Amino acid sequence: MTVALEMREIVKDFPGVRALDRVNFTIEPGQILGLCGENGAGKSTLMKILSGVIPHPEYEGRILIAGAEKRFRTTKEAEQSGIAIIHQELSLFPQLTVAENLFMGNEVARRGVIDWDETRSSAVRLLERFRINIDPDDLVSDLNIGENQLVEIARALSKNARFLILDEPTSALTGEEVVKLFSILRDLRQSGVACVYISHKLDEVKELCDAIAVLRDGRTIGEPMPTATLNKADIVRAMVGRDIAHLYPRVEHAPGETILEIKNFSVDHPFLPGERIIEDAAMHVREGEILGIYGLMGSGRSELLTAIFGGFAPDEFSGEVFIRGNRVKIQSPCDAIRAGIGLCTEDRKILGLFLEAGLDFNISIAALGRFFAGRGVVDRHRELETVRESIRTLGVKTPSEFQTVKNLSGGNQQKGLLGRWLLSRPSILFLDEPTRGVDVGAKSEIYQIMNRLKMENKGIVMVSSDLPELLGMSDRVMVMREGRLVAECAIGDATPEKLGALATGNV
Ligand SMILES: Nc1ncnc2c1ncn2[C@@H]1O[C@H](COP(=O)(O)OP(=O)(O)OP(=O)(O)O)[C@@H](O)[C@H]1O
Ligand SMILES: [Mg+2]
Repeated sequence: MTVALEMREIVKDFPGVRALDRVNFTIEPGQILGLCGENGAGKSTLMKILSGVIPHPEYEGRILIAGAEKRFRTTKEAEQSGIAIIHQELSLFPQLTVAENLFMGNEVARRGVIDWDETRSSAVRLLERFRINIDPDDLVSDLNIGENQLVEIARALSKNARFLILDEPTSALTGEEVVKLFSILRDLRQSGVACVYISHKLDEVKELCDAIAVLRDGRTIGEPMPTATLNKADIVRAMVGRDIAHLYPRVEHAPGETILEIKNFSVDHPFLPGERIIEDAAMHVREGEILGIYGLMGSGRSELLTAIFGGFAPDEFSGEVFIRGNRVKIQSPCDAIRAGIGLCTEDRKILGLFLEAGLDFNISIAALGRFFAGRGVVDRHRELETVRESIRTLGVKTPSEFQTVKNLSGGNQQKGLLGRWLLSRPSILFLDEPTRGVDVGAKSEIYQIMNRLKMENKGIVMVSSDLPELLGMSDRVMVMREGRLVAECAIGDATPEKLGALATGNV
């Protein structure tokens, strides 16, 4: 069999970092190849080279398709050779519609004029073909992250790629959407399309991929291994070079007093008068307790956390918030931070990080008050000491604490965001999808930190779509459906089936 695509001896340096060190990588036709490795291992960089995002000659080494050397200077050139990539970071244009985004750069034009009717009906056909239930006239800014990702996938597929690269495509998809995506990818494999699939969800990788290639610190670890012969521990060992004992190290700890309670909490819909995105929610979390919130995407989980954190205008929500039994008024995130609440958001790019700023600034921003040395001056020395400490504890992979955040790998950005909230020492911490895009080693570190906070009697509310994580770490689980907190389960009674049924209303 001829080798479909080969990358040989690829080297890529960034200032202060050798991201790829003589990497060899081969994809066979009609193969779904998993690409695994820790945060910062070089997975996205390798695929950016393959897809022309990092153009020739900004790297060393060669790319061969069926033996012929290719030098892509643009993504368009890579697409012409049949290579399409779906990026880890969302790259749609929020102000445009779904249909416009689908054909951006490949507009359906007649005599130089874009044919909007044809664009729209092509979009309808494309979405139907992949059974994606989204209105092509919707603005992308009105879609949630999962829908965004589905549109990106449809866009890549519209280019009739022979090699499709997916960089953590399912991080924001629901179980049902993942099933849909996998069946799309298997159909494509049938028709001879090869696929590179990057993911930290090793169960998914094992289920979907024919073989797995592993990168560690910019180097290839052996030949790709057929998944049939592997178990998860083998993959982890290849990725991190050691065994990880217990991924979900829940500690038993008797919870204390109720630290946060909300009552009659409602949030109005921003566009539909009379509709609500949160309806009459009530919940509490105790000291030394991790409350997990489960629900489908769009069920209002993130909005609930954001609303309590003061992220909505005062006239958009109603309800009461009590901290240690005292009624508090939280009308802005500043009020929330002052009341001892921290919110680690799910969308690090839009809501969380200052991408153009340094890692140091991003980590210390919510805790700057601690470093004031009088007269409004910040004790920069102490600030940096603390920042370095938190980079060490979380194992953020970066050439220095001053690195611009947008240059960090996805998982390392997430760690930086978490570092920020840990530093502000909140007594109540909201974590929205805390380990999305984070590798197994770092996941286990984040869980250790959550446990430490629990032992220090902090109250933690965690929203997670990752059921094993939710069940593995929470002490109690509440389920949200269509803006309502519909049920509560002791952790002993919570099973994936039960939570799934409660979340969809099929009880
Ligand atoms: N534009 C850039 N400028 C400087 N350094 C970069 C840039 N892009 C990537 N790097 C560095 O190159 C290394 C590899 O990053 P890459 O994004 O490829 O990792 P990854 O394997 O995709 O990780 P993750 O699982 O976190 O997404 C990291 O150390 C990263 O900080
Ligand atoms: Mg990456």
